[in-house]
Amino acid sequence: MKIEILPLPYPKNALAPFIGGETVELHYEKHHKGYLDKLSKLLRGKPEAELSLEELIGSARGDVFNNAAQVWNHNFYWLSMQPGGGGEPTGVLAARIDESFGSYIEFRAQFAEAAIGEFGSGWAWLVSGLDGRLLVCNSNDAENPLQRGLMPLLTIDVWEHAYYLDYRNERPRYVEMFLDHLLNWDFVATNLSLAPPADESQDIQGEGDKDADHRYREKPTAFARSQRR
Ligand code: FE2
Repeated sequence: MKIEILPLPYPKNALAPFIGGETVELHYEKHHKGYLDKLSKLLRGKPEAELSLEELIGSARGDVFNNAAQVWNHNFYWLSMQPGGGGEPTGVLAARIDESFGSYIEFRAQFAEAAIGEFGSGWAWLVSGLDGRLLVCNSNDAENPLQRGLMPLLTIDVWEHAYYLDYRNERPRYVEMFLDHLLNWDFVATNLSLAPPADESQDIQGEGDKDADHRYREKPTAFARSQRR
């Protein structure tokens, strides 16, 4: 099987006090590795076991899709945070945020609204659309923006297991902490540098473009590329 989960990019207590070591321990060792274990069992002995996570996200359905996407989403989530992160971006990234959202304050408000407003379990994302504009969106359960031809740049996990030990039911406090203290803008910048050139003729959401998914998978994010052999 080609699929592995990413080693944590920092020690398990490195995100404290904003995300405690116990949360990271459970989230990574039980939930994230649990998705990989279930996926391995589902694919054992099947031709699909040779596919990459992105290929499975594009083609699988049901339990295989859910577990493949959750492995990918969590890999991306750990990299979306760093100790000492958060706050406003600088330089070129700040200009891109201003260009797409009007201001950092507006980006922050949209991202927080997407994360806090996602009903039930899911994710909020910063993505690059086909026209090169940055967008905020959310997704339910295991869904991933790659399915809509959007290129992920950043994500926050808003399943309760991501924050309940530290914040109980107060998802807004967890989201604000992520934005102000952990968000990894370096990861966003690296992913953005690999985004396809803007195509002004394309629909902003990528919907209605049958080839969108294919094109975006040919230009994977830095993380996704690192997962390919
Ligand atoms: Fe999670």
